[in-house]
Amino acid sequence: MGNIHVKDRRRKCSNHQNNITLFRPTDQEPILSDTDGRLLTEVWSRLKDDIHKVGVITFVSLFETHPEVHDAFMSFRAINTSELEYNAILRQHALRVMGTVDKCITRLDNREKLRELMAELGIRHKNYSVKIEFIDLMGPQFISSIKPHLHHIWTEEHERAWENLFRLMCYHMKKGMCSIQD
Ligand code: HEM
Repeated sequence: MGNIHVKDRRRKCSNHQNNITLFRPTDQEPILSDTDGRLLTEVWSRLKDDIHKVGVITFVSLFETHPEVHDAFMSFRAINTSELEYNAILRQHALRVMGTVDKCITRLDNREKLRELMAELGIRHKNYSVKIEFIDLMGPQFISSIKPHLHHIWTEEHERAWENLFRLMCYHMKKGMCSIQD
């Protein structure tokens, strides 16, 4: 897909809750600095081997703290999906999220590609009926999952760099979600 033309289609985007606008596609893109990029690349190369563990923990804790996300995930599946199959789906999704983080980190020098990748992912999530307000839940969960693996090097700068990466990823995902009709 080429450039996605996103107008401010707020009335067509499930983007309001109790009269609060959850996301404005016209808001400025979050900033991810060169220093953030350097820290992320460094940390990611250390973490990659543990990618599987980190991803699974992220999802388990996300469902523990936000049961409604669990329900959203479940409703995408056929009603008769067994618990075992469901756990396998979750594990697979966790790995897919990690794969997306990997793709974004390797595309930090090619922002246009990163934007396109995330916007298209957002459009697909809209088609999976994921609510826009769930998207931002992933970043904090992810950060608290990687921290214990990196406690010996972790600084406030690391925390900020990861927050900024997820802000950027989620911004473009939500922008993609808002670019198609409900
Ligand atoms: C930063 C946030 C997220 C990322 C990077 C991400 C990434 C992905 C990826 C790569 C896929 C594989 C299919 C595809 O590429 O279209 C996927 C599928 C899916 N995601 Fe996410 N996701 C995120 C957040 C969420 C959240 C919060 C939910 C909450 C319910 C969710 C629900 C789903 C569902 C239902 C599918 C389809 C499941 C399947 O194919 O088995 N995702 N996601």
